[in-house]
Amino acid sequence: MNTIGLASDHAGYPLKEQVKEWLKAMGYDYVDFGTNSTESCNYPEFAHALAEAIEKGELQKGIAICGTGNGINMTLNHHDAIRSALCWMPEIAALARLHNDANVMVMPGRFIATESAKECVETFLNTGFEGGRHQARIDAIPVKK
Ligand code: RB5
Repeated sequence: MNTIGLASDHAGYPLKEQVKEWLKAMGYDYVDFGTNSTESCNYPEFAHALAEAIEKGELQKGIAICGTGNGINMTLNHHDAIRSALCWMPEIAALARLHNDANVMVMPGRFIATESAKECVETFLNTGFEGGRHQARIDAIPVKK
């Protein structure tokens, strides 16, 4: 519960390193699925690794970052067990938990101020799911096969 999975590409790497510091200060551990530098790479590799750990039940929550947030968010949401929300302000992070029960928060590393990112992380980790009418909505998200 107190261990957060992390993933990024090269564009998200600098913010991921900052997120690690914030998590430590907040008393969380983390597992970092990469990438580990600003060298150009492909975000799906790291997104899939994070998503698979959550699918297996090894972790409950993750934070992922790419340049815009879109590519890594799209990849994560291909996994049935993942509800990944693109967040750039704490109000959206709060609603992603309250209404969507998001288990992964994605941030746009190239388009978010550091202070906003920190507030998003704090809010994502400290906000619970509201349940009620929102439960039926998230239950209806998976495509029926
Ligand atoms: C990398 O240049 C960039 O395309 C990537 O970080 C992300 O924004 C993709 O959605």
